[in-house]
Amino acid sequence: MNQPQLQLGLFSDEKPQSANTEGIKYIGSKMLMIPYILDVARRTNARTVLDGFSGSTRVSQAFAQSGYDVISSDISAWSEVFATCYLRPKRDWQLAELIEELNSTSPIDGWFTEHYGGDVKESGIVENKKPWQRHNTRKLDAIREAIDEMSLSEIEKSVAITSLILALDKVDSTLGHFASYLKEWSPRSYKSLQLKEPMFIETTGSHEVRRGDIFQVLDDVPEVDLAYFDPPYGSNNEKMPPSRVRYAAYYHIWTTVCLNDKPRLFGKAKRRVDTRDKVAASVFEDFRRSFSGRFRAVEAIDRLVRTVRAKYVLLSYSSGGRATSSELVEVLKRVGEIKEIIEIEHKRNVMSGMRWTNKWIRPKEGKNFEYLFLVEKH
Ligand SMILES: C[S@@+](CC[C@H](N)C(=O)[O-])C[C@H]1O[C@@H](n2cnc3c(N)ncnc32)[C@H](O)[C@@H]1O
Repeated sequence: MNQPQLQLGLFSDEKPQSANTEGIKYIGSKMLMIPYILDVARRTNARTVLDGFSGSTRVSQAFAQSGYDVISSDISAWSEVFATCYLRPKRDWQLAELIEELNSTSPIDGWFTEHYGGDVKESGIVENKKPWQRHNTRKLDAIREAIDEMSLSEIEKSVAITSLILALDKVDSTLGHFASYLKEWSPRSYKSLQLKEPMFIETTGSHEVRRGDIFQVLDDVPEVDLAYFDPPYGSNNEKMPPSRVRYAAYYHIWTTVCLNDKPRLFGKAKRRVDTRDKVAASVFEDFRRSFSGRFRAVEAIDRLVRTVRAKYVLLSYSSGGRATSSELVEVLKRVGEIKEIIEIEHKRNVMSGMRWTNKWIRPKEGKNFEYLFLVEKH
């Protein structure tokens, strides 16, 4: 195989560029990767960037702070709300007053409390496991209703909902997702929900926010200099049920806080019915092979990099993901020239050499690596 140039030790004498971003606990968040992403992006001389799986929007925020024109896109409602809060134009309205008004709303027993609020018992054990203590879901009920009753613009509403989600994320009793809840109340769940002004990002570029399946979004977005793709990875663990790696299922409550649509629920975690595995499947998380014998997740990445109209594609991937490194390289080489492959040890955030094998390298059990592939398209 004609090996692409591996860029190692690139940052040894140069401090990686960083960014100050804000967000919730998010599985797969690339917060720790931001300095490396920005560094690679800088070398492409790009001005316009598409972040096609923006999730927590931390990478979109970092691009925006670094002077790029950003299109931030994801399939989830919460990501659209965060991106609208952080990337859309200047705030010339009284945000502090709005946040104060929301914080002073009188708590009520409503839909969120009925389904997600739990009582504190002397034992500390949570009866019928819930993600928040009742005193906080009562505030959530009152504040979410108040947001709908105020006549807010789309941006103001997104800022208010982002503020509410950030505050809820600080008093939850979970492991960072809503697929199951803790047996005992976390120490932070005793604290009182308190909204704060979301960080205001000063940027020079102009930004767009999209929401939708990436393939539909790609039909419609203008050509960009750099497309950053951080798709869900699925899992290479055959025994792991697919619902364990689905964002819609993990973060169903954030969808409901954004939409306030009181959906029908199912199961112990009280997920929205529209996050049932058969309804909310993402092709990138698909663990099956297609008729051609290739993994569907790999075929989806193939289609993604072929379809996107961009000079460069920067792909994030994890060693725990469904596709192997050689499968990805094969797919990427068909659309252009691989300029760089960077390997970062996730937990330690250390960049290291990548040996070239057909599989991801897992020197020690439990170690996880993040990869960045930069491709210049033909
Ligand atoms: C690994 S996460 C991205 C994390 C993000 N880069 C960050 O730093 O927070 C993958 C994202 O892909 C989104 N997603 C899943 N399937 C999608 C699809 N078909 N089209 C667009 N987005 C999708 C999920 O909502 C999730 O936010």
